[in-house]
Amino acid sequence: MPLPALSLLPRPVHQKPGGGRFTITAATTLSFAPGLESVAAWLQGAVRPATGFSLMADGDPGDISLLLDPGLGGEEYVLDASPGRVEVRGGDAAGVFYGCQSLLQLLPPAIYRAAPVAGVRWEVPCGTVSDKPRFGWRGTMLDVARQFLPKREILRFIDLMSAHKLNTLHLHLTDDQGWRVEILRYPKLTEISSWRLETQLGAGADAPLDGRPHGGFYTQDDLREIVAYAAARFITVVPEIESPGHVQAVLAAYPELGVHGPGLEVDTRWGINYNVLNAEESTVNFFINVLDEVMDIFPANWIGIGGDECPRDQWLADPRSRERAAELGLARVEDLQNWFIGRLDQHVSGRGRRIFGWDEILEGEISPTATVASWRGMTGALTAARRGHDVVSCPDHLAYFDYRQSEMATEPIPVAIPLDVAGVYSFEPVPEGLDAGLAHHVLGGQANIWTEYIDSPRTLDYMAFPRLCAMAEVLWGPAEKDLESFLLRLQAHLPRLEALGVEYRRESGPFPWQQRPGIKGRPSTPEERAAHIAEITANIRD
Ligand code: ACM
Repeated sequence: MPLPALSLLPRPVHQKPGGGRFTITAATTLSFAPGLESVAAWLQGAVRPATGFSLMADGDPGDISLLLDPGLGGEEYVLDASPGRVEVRGGDAAGVFYGCQSLLQLLPPAIYRAAPVAGVRWEVPCGTVSDKPRFGWRGTMLDVARQFLPKREILRFIDLMSAHKLNTLHLHLTDDQGWRVEILRYPKLTEISSWRLETQLGAGADAPLDGRPHGGFYTQDDLREIVAYAAARFITVVPEIESPGHVQAVLAAYPELGVHGPGLEVDTRWGINYNVLNAEESTVNFFINVLDEVMDIFPANWIGIGGDECPRDQWLADPRSRERAAELGLARVEDLQNWFIGRLDQHVSGRGRRIFGWDEILEGEISPTATVASWRGMTGALTAARRGHDVVSCPDHLAYFDYRQSEMATEPIPVAIPLDVAGVYSFEPVPEGLDAGLAHHVLGGQANIWTEYIDSPRTLDYMAFPRLCAMAEVLWGPAEKDLESFLLRLQAHLPRLEALGVEYRRESGPFPWQQRPGIKGRPSTPEERAAHIAEITANIRD
């Protein structure tokens, strides 16, 4: 079947091919309305490397003109290409930016190369595209705690997200195995918590360790740079600081914050960790001070406070934790988790921001503004929206990109159930059974890229692409699915990824990974996964 004339990915709301072609040459000029200076500069920067052309701002209107149109909504755009002229109109600067991203996709894939390409005619097929996103939260979570990802790789990933019209980067900055954000008040978080002695290879408690220290962190200046770089591409960076579980890295540096006491190292193994925070006032204050510095770095409305997978065993076994629960008037020692999240919620809300937490936070009282990431299937999404909370849907079986992509032995260390491109494409962020009147609570969704088994940028590319292309279409494109059209446009899109140097997973191989002898994965069947999720969501009440 021939490729559609306008092979845009994600699929636009409406497109009408016209006749003829618009050609970009060294003489092509660009004009732009006030307020669009940075979008224009971005477009010039995006076109110059491969074409060698500058898109001079010389005369108004230019051959390509960028305009604001008050008749369009936020993020909405209309791209009109005729043989003599291209016009991109947006409801706001973000809309114009997305129109420019579509314009790049209409050019030959070589436009994404980083140095001049000879012999290419830089032609755009004429036509009109009218487009706007379905959801406002089109996200990706990057777990930079399990494996440190150098800053330049995050910047590159931001560019790749923006090429797919994604707009939210959730940075998972802390976990048992590493702390990645400089906190000026607590220097041991970077001196000690951001390094671990070695890393578990593969899955299972008996998995071998590699004997190689691993670590790294981002300075506050690095993070401000990431935030600004993302903002220039209309991407919001939502930081996440885990608590009251997933904190062993903190406890290695500040053992007074934990129930365990001294003697813990930054964790070298994967899995749910039993070492949790204690419930002292000084511990809450430590995390409030951390969040204050984090909120100074990240202007996002949302601040992630974690909240997932906090085993209660240590609190139950610890006399001081039991005493503290009684002091606080809690009905059960287990409620220390909800109390802790509630305290952080009060503080973050008091500063005019909103907490963003995993769906376990539904077990306690949370502010009306608290936003819930539904990860244990869609149960949390349904419950949260019914209780009036905003929701970001990221059910593990459709949105976890650490999950293996096939049953083949050539996948990198395979975990969990298979999730392929078509599986991601089938994802519907609005939970079944939700009243239409509550659907506005579903802000959108995100792919979660956990990195226990993703130890290099190359593996990250392989796990992220092209599944992230499918996620982008789910979150941007119209609700009606058209897998055949998507797969066809994906064929046209893969050469763009190739030009960008993305090491995406090719259906037909070659597969760069051969499993190393002695290193096990953790594959499971859909039935095993369903049973596990049913067990761990038992606490979510309707
Ligand atoms: C999670 O996967 N623990 C949010």
